[in-house]
Amino acid sequence: MTAVRLPPGYRIEPLRRDHPPRSAFHSGQEEVDDWLANKALQNQEKHLSATKVLIDPVGAIAGFYTLATAQVDFADLPPKLFRRLPRRNLPVAVLAWLGVREGDQGQGHGRRLLAQALRDSYDAGQIFPFVAVILDCIDDKALRFYQRWDFCPLPGHNYRLFLSWSQLQAMATGC
Ligand SMILES: CC(C)(COP(=O)(O)OP(=O)(O)OC[C@H]1O[C@@H](n2cnc3c(N)ncnc32)[C@H](O)[C@@H]1OP(=O)(O)O)[C@@H](O)C(=O)NCCC(=O)NCCS
Repeated sequence: MTAVRLPPGYRIEPLRRDHPPRSAFHSGQEEVDDWLANKALQNQEKHLSATKVLIDPVGAIAGFYTLATAQVDFADLPPKLFRRLPRRNLPVAVLAWLGVREGDQGQGHGRRLLAQALRDSYDAGQIFPFVAVILDCIDDKALRFYQRWDFCPLPGHNYRLFLSWSQLQAMATGC
């Protein structure tokens, strides 16, 4: 996966308490905004999840994503792709949240944040292995956005998508 290029003046960095007010961020999805405003930092301080923010040239939060870890049962994974794995709970990376400021949507920030989230996941996965990245889509719009990136639904869960480690590795290494 090539380095994520940002427009001039933008940067992505770990969420900090001294970032501009998180409550000023609005993505058009109340649940996503509430996570950033009220829970992201608290969960990060408890070491339950890690959030990175996209800072725009004037220092405001233009987007963010949150990564965490979880386990899924072998039986919840598509048997064809995962048949060689042990039949027990298996570690996964979770793209728990992703959001772009409402007025900035459609300009590629979502794509850049997702690319950076997958790069972070790939880097982490080389040290703490997991079998897939999973995420839950908030609505059909989000579903269409993620499906462009080879994420596929888990069997029986139309809004829970996965990208296997081998797909992530192929993206990251270009083979
Ligand atoms: C989903 C979201 C993160 C996308 O961010 P964005 O900055 O608008 O997306 P981008 O501009 O990077 O779009 C990337 C590509 O996906 C496409 N795309 C974006 N939204 C799409 C949608 N709803 N349906 C289909 N394609 C979509 C774009 O056309 C673009 O295609 P291109 O690369 O060929 O130009 C943003 O709309 C958002 O924050 N929504 C509200 C919160 C949310 O739903 N979060 C996800 C669940 S936690």
